[in-house]
Amino acid sequence: MPRVFKATEIEKEEKEVKRDYLDRHMPHVFCPDTVKRGEKFEVKIKLGDEYPHPDEHDHFISVIQLWNRETLLAEARYTAGVYGNVPSHFEVDFYIVAPEVSMNLSAMSVCTKHGLWQSEDKPVKVVSQV
Ligand SMILES: [Fe+2]
Repeated sequence: MPRVFKATEIEKEEKEVKRDYLDRHMPHVFCPDTVKRGEKFEVKIKLGDEYPHPDEHDHFISVIQLWNRETLLAEARYTAGVYGNVPSHFEVDFYIVAPEVSMNLSAMSVCTKHGLWQSEDKPVKVVSQV
């Protein structure tokens, strides 16, 4: 069973010591807090606040996934060099249609050297009128 690095489970001391390491791998979900049922909206997933991740032939972000609770909604796959072999904030925009009920979105990313990383949850309220 691989270890999954979760934003909510990393100890405070670990965050202090490994701030750059943790930051460059951690995916973040950006989308509206409230969306209209049946309408398409954008969900951006971006890795890192401060520190960019390497884009080297043996060390890069290979997968970014968007989840709604236990359901995989979408994923993007990368090959090395997509970001010009220079460190970057890997990111992807997905467009999804708001379902009948509210969502609890999260993102997963895979580093070819440092494993699986899970974002914090992003609750999204679905209403009939925004
Ligand atoms: Fe890495």
